[in-house]
Amino acid sequence: LSVQRVFISGASSGLGAALAAHYAAQGAQLGLLARRGARLPTTYPDAFCYSADVRDAEAMRTAGADFLARAGVPDLVIACAGVSVGTLSEDAADLAAFQTVLDINLVGMLHTFHPFIAAMRTRGSGCLAGIGSVAGVRGLAGGSAYSASKAAVRVYLESLRLEMRPAGIDVACIAPGYIDTPMTHVNPYAMPYRLAADQAARLAARAITQKRRHAVIPWQMAWVAVLLKWLPDPVYDRLFEKAPRKPRGLLQHPSGEN
Ligand SMILES: NC(=O)c1ccc[n+]([C@@H]2O[C@H](COP(=O)([O-])OP(=O)(O)OC[C@H]3O[C@@H](n4cnc5c(N)ncnc54)[C@H](OP(=O)(O)O)[C@@H]3O)[C@@H](O)[C@H]2O)c1
Repeated sequence: LSVQRVFISGASSGLGAALAAHYAAQGAQLGLLARRGARLPTTYPDAFCYSADVRDAEAMRTAGADFLARAGVPDLVIACAGVSVGTLSEDAADLAAFQTVLDINLVGMLHTFHPFIAAMRTRGSGCLAGIGSVAGVRGLAGGSAYSASKAAVRVYLESLRLEMRPAGIDVACIAPGYIDTPMTHVNPYAMPYRLAADQAARLAARAITQKRRHAVIPWQMAWVAVLLKWLPDPVYDRLFEKAPRKPRGLLQHPSGEN
């Protein structure tokens, strides 16, 4: 896969920003999107920047149409925008957070891909890559919204892969373990095999180039994911019931608006 044009959501921070740097270094033309337009990297001469919320289908269509008109059909679209926060189903204060996590992580991914699919179909090539998570392999206590959103992302991407195959469009699900980004800075627990963001970007890009359908990064976490998947329910329950939890409360957003 030769990536000359790439559109990345969630490019203002963490993995998305590192992916932008990775593809910029390869000379690709970038389309970068996040809510905080001012935080999108301005150092790339070939970047088109969009300040938009992935939950806003209309705004995403406008951004996509602009990129298509100015840069052309992307070879690769990476839906990286995401949020994570602890949620409890019994607490009314978490209802809105639950909705926000599902809307951004799952529906936002659909809104990110949608504007480009028709053009990729006409051209007969391209790749749609979504960022999942090892947290989507099993339900984590206190992280119900995030785990559910990432499990849904994995299954959504599988459906999409089958739909896109006849059109020659690849679909990849990249499922990282832990990455050192603002999303994990709040975690009060050990994070084994945590990757630096640039390392994670390199591994994600390699998996995309290799046309992996589903790639857990790093490889050590792929084994963790296999183990988690096959643990019998009673054993899983006993081991993970008391596992430390993601903090609840504010979603990471600068302005406080979610
Ligand atoms: N960090 C990890 O350990 C880890 C592990 C597995 C998977 N992941 C996944 O990797 C992806 C990137 O996470 P990260 O760790 O790089 O987190 P991060 O540093 O917090 O970055 C998240 C990015 O998503 C953007 N974003 C969030 N909500 C958005 C919205 N409604 N509309 C548009 N953009 C939005 C943010 O930009 P604005 O706030 O400016 O909008 C930011 O650029 C996420 O999908 C996450 O679930 C992360």
